Amino acid sequence: MIPRYYIVAESEHELQNPISEEKLLVLGKTLALDRSSRVLDVASGRGGPALLLAGTYGCSVDGIEIEPAFQAVAHEHAHERELSELVSFRLGDASGIDLAPSAYDAALCLGATFVYGGLAETVAALATSVKPGGYVAVGEPYWRRLPLPADYDERNELFTTLDGTVTVFETEGLPVVSVIASSEDDWDRYETLHWRSVAGWLAANPDDPEAEEIRSRSERHKRSYLRFGRDYMGWAIFVGWKRPI
Ligand SMILES: C[S@@+](CC[C@H](N)C(=O)[O-])C[C@H]1O[C@@H](n2cnc3c(N)ncnc32)[C@H](O)[C@@H]1O
Repeated sequence: MIPRYYIVAESEHELQNPISEEKLLVLGKTLALDRSSRVLDVASGRGGPALLLAGTYGCSVDGIEIEPAFQAVAHEHAHERELSELVSFRLGDASGIDLAPSAYDAALCLGATFVYGGLAETVAALATSVKPGGYVAVGEPYWRRLPLPADYDERNELFTTLDGTVTVFETEGLPVVSVIASSEDDWDRYETLHWRSVAGWLAANPDDPEAEEIRSRSERHKRSYLRFGRDYMGWAIFVGWKRPI
C-alpha cells in the first residue's frame, strides 16, 4: 500500500514517470525486444510501460506491483487490449519476492529504486534476474546541477548527478550502454497531470476525510516542482548491460 495521494494524483497516468511513449519505444529497441523476449518489470504501476512494450514488440512481461488499485487497473487494461497472454501483474512487495536467477532478457525498474533501498541495490537485484548478455533498465532521478538550494524539500534524497548515476551501474559491474532522458515537456506532462487529477478529485470529493491532506500535499509538490524541481531534477532511464560470461 502507498499513500492515497498517489492513487488520486496518478489516477489518469498511463505512464507514471516523466517519460513519453516514444521514448519507451526507443527503450524497447535498445533492449532488442521481440516475441522471444522475457521482461521483468518491478513496480509496474498501472501497467503502462509493460503493456506498451508487449503490445509493440510481442515480448512477455512479468510485472510486480504493491498497490492493489494500480495492479487492478493494469489487469483491466491488459484484458481490454487483449494482451493478457503476454503480461502478468503480480500483487506484492517486490523487495520480499525472490527473483528467479538469469530468467529474463531484460529487467526494468522505472521510478522505484526505493523498493530495494537505493540505486546500487536495485541494479544488483535486477542483474541477478537477467541472463548474461541481457539488460537492466532503471528509471531514476538525477541532479542536473549542484549545490541544491537549502529550502528545496527534495535535497536530502539520495540521488546523484548524471555522471554519478552511471558510475553506480559501473561499480555494480554493468556498463551503461544507453541513457534515455526526460525533456522539460515530459516533466511538465507528468507533473501537471497530477494537478488536474487532484483538482478533479477534490471537486468531486470535498468531504472526504483525507481531502485536506491530499490538497496540501499536492500544493507542496506543485510549488516544489515550480520553484526547484524543473531546474534541478532530471530523470532518465539508464540501461546497463550484463556482460556475457
Ligand atoms: C513512480 S511509480 C512507477 C510505475 C511504473 N513503473 C511506470 O513507470 O508507470 C512507482 C510504483 O512503485 C510501486 N511500488 C512502491 N513500492 C513498491 C514495492 N515495495 N513493491 C512493488 N511496487 C512498489 C508504486 O505503487 C508505484 O506503482
